[in-house]
Amino acid sequence: MLLPPSAVRGMKILNKELFRKTVRVPALQITRKGVDSLLKVLKKNILDSVNIRRVMDITSPEEGASQLVAILLKPDYKLSTHEESSLTEDMKFIDREIQLEFSSWGIKALLSAILPENTVVPTAFETAGHIAHVNLRDEQLPYKHVIGEVILQKLTPIKTVVNKIGKIENEFRIFDMEVIAGDKDAGIVTVKEQYCTYKLDYFKAFWNSRLQGERQRITDLFKPNQVILDVFAGVGPFSILACKKKCFAHANDLNPNCYQFMSENVKINKVVDRMECYNLDARVFIKKLTEQLIQSELSGDGFASKLKTMYSHVIMNLPGTAVGFLNTFIGLFISVPEDKRDSFQLPTIHCYSFASGEDPQNEVKQRVEGILISRLTTCDTSFVRQVSTVKEQIRISFQLPPEVAYRHKQVAEVEPEQQQQKKRAKFDYNED
Ligand SMILES: C[S@@+](CC[C@H](N)C(=O)[O-])C[C@H]1O[C@@H](n2cnc3c(N)ncnc32)[C@H](O)[C@@H]1O
Repeated sequence: MLLPPSAVRGMKILNKELFRKTVRVPALQITRKGVDSLLKVLKKNILDSVNIRRVMDITSPEEGASQLVAILLKPDYKLSTHEESSLTEDMKFIDREIQLEFSSWGIKALLSAILPENTVVPTAFETAGHIAHVNLRDEQLPYKHVIGEVILQKLTPIKTVVNKIGKIENEFRIFDMEVIAGDKDAGIVTVKEQYCTYKLDYFKAFWNSRLQGERQRITDLFKPNQVILDVFAGVGPFSILACKKKCFAHANDLNPNCYQFMSENVKINKVVDRMECYNLDARVFIKKLTEQLIQSELSGDGFASKLKTMYSHVIMNLPGTAVGFLNTFIGLFISVPEDKRDSFQLPTIHCYSFASGEDPQNEVKQRVEGILISRLTTCDTSFVRQVSTVKEQIRISFQLPPEVAYRHKQVAEVEPEQQQQKKRAKFDYNED
């Protein structure tokens, strides 16, 4: 009785008029003065399945405390003995006519009424600024525009609704998406996360709000004044948060669009003195920065600026392929003179990976050991998020072993990466 009219079933273009309906519901007629206390007592029996005022005027409000009003009740209301004992003789049970319309229902009730019976109703979606992002199943696709329009109408800050198409297969980890409702050109969003603000082009850069917890966890591991190397930085959320916690960061992304917005985000978040942005391939970035910082450490330039001192942590957040980049660290510190190596602090690497085996954390550890050709005696692996029913994102954190950092690179050591890449082609590493 309180559901939207059956005429809306199968609707593909939103027509709000079809949601209008009039129904009669039970109500309790009482004087205005008793309303507040009775609302508390009758809480469980008050009409709450539709968005409508629970107390309706019967006589004119000018009558003040003696004005008659109706408290709307659920159609199947049932009063307990305690509730009944709160009623007085001047109160009376009546029926009341109410008008329901599009605004009376929430997204779930509206979509349940619109989509064909037995079709799963999309209720989960992510938002980034004014964009809502859904992930529709095949059977929902014929209704994509009405689904988008309902979300758009119901969530006031949302201006655009997009649906993900296919899997992320490009190197910049950008969703292939289709605008299903709202402003087609509204790709540039401003996202607030913790006490940081990020501007980005949602159609051209990677963004995932579900990583917020991980960004918090990882930056909690850093100490003030430590220097961070953020290899796959996107628009900068890990580094900017670290800088807000008084760290310093060198942040890099190969996608020019990410680089452009990351540079802007550095200014927006007022971390200009703490963060440098780069637009390089990851390997070039790691090698170039490390060589520069080793030289400045050795020459004493590191005293001039924190950004010239050696980094303590490396973040490698490209879960599909980051492990394959780890061999860049083999022999990377070879230019540190042997007599200085004992006191030279090697960085802790935090590398992300997808895994889908029986023991995902161990699977990632073994892959890392394979690419570094070294056993990790101490390392910390942790679950980051469930990507799909069979796939997890894992973080592995370990201090770069001296025997890897100072190893003379042999020709044979180039091989594991090629082998790894061949192996990778057989796995599904794409992000859901
Ligand atoms: C999963 S996203 C992570 C972005 C960021 N850390 C975040 O949390 O929003 C990975 C990023 O790596 C960048 N990327 C992909 N291949 C790269 C490469 N070879 N060198 C540098 N960056 C790369 C992509 O453009 C993308 O922005």
